[in-house]
This record gives sequence, structure tokens and C-alpha cells, in this order.
Amino acid sequence: MADECLADAKGAGVGTTGWHERLLEQLARHFGPAGPPRALAPLLAEIDRSYRDADEERARLKAAYTEARDALQRGVEERTVALEQANEELRRQMADREQVEAQLRQSQRMEAIGQLAGGVAHDFNNLLTAIVGYTELLLAKPSDDPARRHVTEIRRAADRAASLTRQLLAFSRRQLMTPEVLDVNQLAVELSRMLRRLIGEHIVFNLQLDATIGAVRADRTQLEQVLMNLAVNARDAMPTGGHLTIGTSEVDLDEFTAARRGVAPGRYVVATVRDTGIGMSPQTQARIFEPFFTTKEPGQGTGLGLATVYGIVRQSGGAIAVDSTLGHGATFAILLPRVAHAAAVAEPAEPRPAIGGTETVLVVEDEPALRDLIARVLSENGYTVLLAENGLGALHAVRAEGAKVAAVLSDVVMPLMSGPQLAEQVREERPDVPVLFMTGYTDDSAVVCDLERGVRVLHKPFTPSDLLVALREVLDARPQSAAA
Ligand SMILES: Nc1ncnc2c1ncn2[C@@H]1O[C@H](COP(=O)(O)OP(=O)(O)OP(=O)(O)O)[C@@H](O)[C@H]1O
Ligand SMILES: [Mg+2]
Repeated sequence: MADECLADAKGAGVGTTGWHERLLEQLARHFGPAGPPRALAPLLAEIDRSYRDADEERARLKAAYTEARDALQRGVEERTVALEQANEELRRQMADREQVEAQLRQSQRMEAIGQLAGGVAHDFNNLLTAIVGYTELLLAKPSDDPARRHVTEIRRAADRAASLTRQLLAFSRRQLMTPEVLDVNQLAVELSRMLRRLIGEHIVFNLQLDATIGAVRADRTQLEQVLMNLAVNARDAMPTGGHLTIGTSEVDLDEFTAARRGVAPGRYVVATVRDTGIGMSPQTQARIFEPFFTTKEPGQGTGLGLATVYGIVRQSGGAIAVDSTLGHGATFAILLPRVAHAAAVAEPAEPRPAIGGTETVLVVEDEPALRDLIARVLSENGYTVLLAENGLGALHAVRAEGAKVAAVLSDVVMPLMSGPQLAEQVREERPDVPVLFMTGYTDDSAVVCDLERGVRVLHKPFTPSDLLVALREVLDARPQSAAA
């Protein structure tokens, strides 16, 4: 009975969730074998419908839930990917930043060492000029005194010391440069004969020059020095032979890369020196540009080679990069700003000036040993010499001696008043009196400015003959009325 009643109630066959079986049991228990009265059929049908609706609602909710869950999962996955990308970007930025900071620390360190080295070299140059000068005076006198040999040795040692101070000055970027527009390819070709001899026959030497590169503006001698130092290092890294390749190319530096290298963005000429030698560990690479850093046996290297290279390249507005793995050779890349090729200008032949003279020369130098030496050299060669130990004393002498002073020979870096400041005052009072500077270095823009206006500069340490030649040139270059 219950079955029949229920069959009526179920209508179009519903009951997927087992509710009707449970209801049947309940009805059977309640009404016994007779089953529920027929009058209950509509109610049962109603219950069946409700259950059916509930089933549909449940299925709908389930679908909605599944859809929401899938959407959420997709969202989470997408978000995870985005987060990972952001994370990766952040890691990259942090690494870049660390690299820039390390670069900055390194260049600050090099700057500090450079200042120290430059200061020491500057003072040494004054002393060396005196040592070289006095030994030359001694050697100029004909004599068969056996002590003459000792003087020659002193002179040799002083020359070696002078070359050391030159390297230190180069590192500290305080060397006076004579930049010119250069073709790096041509320079490499010209240098290659000498380099071949220098590196020896156990090393295969190659040039890989890109003929389309532009020119650079640099000091020829210094650029040769750079390539030579790199080639010598490459040779030393290949004691049992290998390949040395000098190559050229061009590269564009974007803002970021340029900042990392401490240069301006733009187009650069690249000169690479590549060897197949012993290579370097990262620890060695971190220190190679420091002056006096060397891994060579005592007496084999001073550790100034790469310091010099670094100084020259930086002073020329360029950058240097090294790529090396221990046991797998090394590549050094020099980047120099590309400039337009200049039209060739014929250098006027320099007439050989006469040594000595009878004019009155005012010498301004704060280092007593050097001042005395110069006075001696000049007076021995016929000049009348006035001495001042600083700019104020010099101005006083110019005013007091009036027309007599024919030229001023002045140090550049002095207490109270610098050489260029003195020169300006002298120019105001006596525009006809030329000023000849003596200096071991310059990072002083005033001197550079004067240099561009054609002021002569004598590089310390100089020999007495250098001094006499330069002074004569300056005196002879005066307008005729003044020289008369
Ligand atoms: N091409 C290279 N391959 C392997 N190591 C190199 C190379 N160039 C330089 N180095 C390392 O860098 C160090 C410093 O080089 P740097 O030229 O400044 O000094 P040096 O060659 O040791 O001495 P100096 O050049 O003053 O005679 C070297 O001692 C060496 O360890
Ligand atoms: Mg070296």
C-alpha cells in the first residue's frame, strides 16, 4: 500500500537521494501493512516536489561552488605567477643595486687610494727633480773622479723612481694628458711589431680589428702604455705559451650600463686584450686595479701595471672591464668614448731653440731644494734670477722689479696663491710677461684652462736641459716689441 501510495506521490519518477526509501520505512512502521491512506498522496507528492527542488538547488549550488572554487584557484595561480615575477624582478633589482653599490664602494676606494698615491707622487716629484737636476749638474762637469760612477748610479735610481711616480700619478689620474684624436686600429697595428717582440715566440699573436670603428680622443703615449701593460700581463699569464688577441669593436652603452660602469651613456670604441692564460679567481679580480696589488713573486712585479691602465682609462673618460675564469684565460676590455674623425693637421716643425739667455727670470717655487737648483741652472746659463717662495712674494717682485722681469717660471700648486692665480695677476699688470708652469700633475681646472690657451707646462721631474729649452721657447715666443 505504501508502495502504491508512494508511486502516485512520486509522479514523474523522482527520488535520487534515497529519501523515499527512508519515508517508506517510516510509513510502514507507522501505518502497518495497510500503508498510509490514499488521501495522503497529494501531501506526499508535495514532499517529493520539495525534495526534488532541494536536489536541484543543491546541484546548482554545487556547480556554483565548483565554478567559484575553480575561479579562485585560477586567480590564486595567476596571482602566484605574478608574485613570483614581481619577486624575481625585485631580486634582480636588488642584485643590480648591490652591483652598483659595490661598484661605487670600489670606485670610492680607488679614489681614496688615488688621492694618497697622487699626493705622495707630487711631493716625490719635487724631490726627484732636485735629485735628477743636481746629479745632471755633477755629470755635466768633466771629471775622472771615481765617485762619478756613484753619481751615475744615483741618476739611474732617480730615473727609476721617476718612472714609479709617473705610474702613481697616472693611477691617481693626475697626469698631464695631451689628448688627440686617435685611430685605435692604426695604433694597434703600429704597436704590434713591438708587442710581438715583447711577448716572445711561444705566444701566438693576433689582431682582430673592426675597420668600421670610429676614433677616440686620448693621449697616444698613454694609450700605448695601456695596451703594452695589458699585453705584458697576458704574456706573464701564459708562461708555457698560448694565444694573445687584440681586437677592436664598438658598443652602445644605455643609461643603466653606463651608470654601472661610471661613464656617460653613448657610443664607445672597445679595445680588447684576450689571452688563453691562467686566468683569475674572483678574489684576485676584485683587487687587480689597486696599486701595488700583485700575485707575482717579490721582485717580479710592482703591481702598478693595471693601476696605471685604470687611471689612464678613467682620466680619458672611459671604462675598463675584465672577464676571467681561473684556468681559462682573461679578457680585458677598454671602452673609450667614440668621437668624430678629425681632419689631419700637419704639425709645424719645431725649431731647435738656443739654450741659455741673459734675461731676468722670476722663479716661484715653494720647495727649497728645487728652487735652489733652478736658480743655479738658470744663472749658470746666463740668466738673472729672482726668487720667490709663493705667489704673494712673486707679485711683490714683479711690482718692485718692474720692466726687468722677462718671464715667470712658477709652480702650480702652492700655498696662499696657486700658479694660475698668480699668472692671472701677472697678466693684468704685465701682459707682455709670459708664465711657464712647472707641475707634476694637475686636477686643477684653472691649469687645464690655461693649457688650452697655449700656456707652456714643464712636467716634473724635468732635467736642467728640459728647463732651459722650455724657458727659451717661452721667451722667444714673446711679441717682438717685448723681446727687444
Ligand atoms: N691577463 C692576466 N691573466 C691573469 N692574471 C692577471 C692578468 N692580468 C693581471 N693579472 C693579475 O693582476 C695582478 C696585477 O696586475 P698588474 O699589472 O697591476 O701588476 P703586475 O703585473 O703584478 O706587476 P707590474 O705590472 O707592476 O709589473 C697580477 O699580479 C695578476 O695576478
Ligand atoms: Mg703587470
